[in-house]
Amino acid sequence: MKRYFITDIINKVDQEVELYGWVNSIRDHKKVVFIDLRDRSGLVQLVGDESLSKLSVEDVVYIKGKVKKRPQHLVNPNLETGEIEVEVVSFEKLSSADVLPFNISDLGYDLDEQIRLKYRYLDLRRDRMKRNLFYRQRVLSEVRKFLASRQFWEVDTPILTKSTPEGARDFIVPSRLKKGKFYALPQSPQQYKQLLMVAGVERYFQIARCFRDEDPRADRAYGEFTQIDIEMSFVTQEDIRRLVEQMIIEIIEKVFPEKKILQVPFPIIDYQTAIKKYNTDRPDIRESKDENVLAFCWVVDFPAFEWSDEEKRWTAVHHPFTSPKKEDLKYLEQGEYDKVRADQYDLALNGFEVAGGSIRITDPNLQSKIFQIMGHSEADVKKKFGHLLKAFSYGVPPHGGIAIGFDRLLQVILNERSVREVIAFPATSGGVTAVMSAPDKVSDEQLKELGIAVIEE
Ligand code: AMO
Repeated sequence: MKRYFITDIINKVDQEVELYGWVNSIRDHKKVVFIDLRDRSGLVQLVGDESLSKLSVEDVVYIKGKVKKRPQHLVNPNLETGEIEVEVVSFEKLSSADVLPFNISDLGYDLDEQIRLKYRYLDLRRDRMKRNLFYRQRVLSEVRKFLASRQFWEVDTPILTKSTPEGARDFIVPSRLKKGKFYALPQSPQQYKQLLMVAGVERYFQIARCFRDEDPRADRAYGEFTQIDIEMSFVTQEDIRRLVEQMIIEIIEKVFPEKKILQVPFPIIDYQTAIKKYNTDRPDIRESKDENVLAFCWVVDFPAFEWSDEEKRWTAVHHPFTSPKKEDLKYLEQGEYDKVRADQYDLALNGFEVAGGSIRITDPNLQSKIFQIMGHSEADVKKKFGHLLKAFSYGVPPHGGIAIGFDRLLQVILNERSVREVIAFPATSGGVTAVMSAPDKVSDEQLKELGIAVIEE
């Protein structure tokens, strides 16, 4: 006999089946006992004698039983398996469950999030969270299929690496072999994907984990998040936008057929218009907020630089590898940096920024100049970005790319209130990891080996 998921047995009336799962609920009528058995796929009603009453809610059980059609008046229209039930022939308790720290049969929004994250493995048992995990892997597998069919290669890049400026604070990791030196976790694979273009990969993608030490918000995970990261050679901004647009439309039609995309092709709004008309660079172009409407729009023609009062220097609006628009290079020459527009494009969805990308600089002189405008000395540029400038001296194809904020995209599509609802094990808003409560102290021996002394406050 093979193991079936609960929803596989709907068409197995009068057959004997084996099921495994958790006791979702028990209704004890003395001589007959009803149990709702739950596995990943759903619930089914079990019927048996009083021996079942020794089971408790959330126990893990093995059941052998016979699938029966329910009489018409007992059909449960709210249950996928509502037309059948399973008559228990024999069963075995595989593991006993203590009383859970919270109810998992509701949506869970009203619970303290710290408690939910402490027991995330239980929180994930609830339908809503399981649905979110289901859609997460469904979308990712479609992304892989779509990009593979267009000759993209999935290439993974290092996690222990050197700082790449995306505008957030780095996480650093001490080195044991080179005492006193540190790796940085990547804020994105930006430089590696550009190096892959120099290497001749031409079409790259990666489901990339990105690490940023920045204050969390509802649409921003603390610590780490996932990008669908893409880079292509010999393309224009339009090529990249069209690819991403096609991918998103195809996947939504396949995975979320109940959703309606407001406007296709996605409207393109220039930055100035977005600011004037919507007062934001990630406009929500819906007229009314219907939960199944997805309103995408591209925002283009961003300024390349903005002045940071805090840092007293020009900073890149996207990142320093973004090419200025050709027709604006003259302003660069004239030192009118606020007039330079970038060859950048963001994708907004219902008022959230769900992707951002740009055509890159490939001229090493222009790249050096941009770093210098942003306040890096020549020596500093050489030390921090010399590898990239050197790579560009060996024949670099024109290239550009984009990264989709995967968690945020799912959050909006699934109408979730926080990005943490679509991540299996997110950190709390205070930066403590789910279940395992990192960061934590390390032993004195570990510190010694790393040549690190901790200053206790
Ligand atoms: P950017 O920094 O704009 O670009 O990131 C791309 C997209 O990632 C999402 N995002 C986040 N999602 C959840 N939590 C966060 N903390 C978070 N930060 C960003 C957003 C954003 O649009 N290397 C460039 C891409 C490129 O130029 O190709 C980059 O990382 O949806």
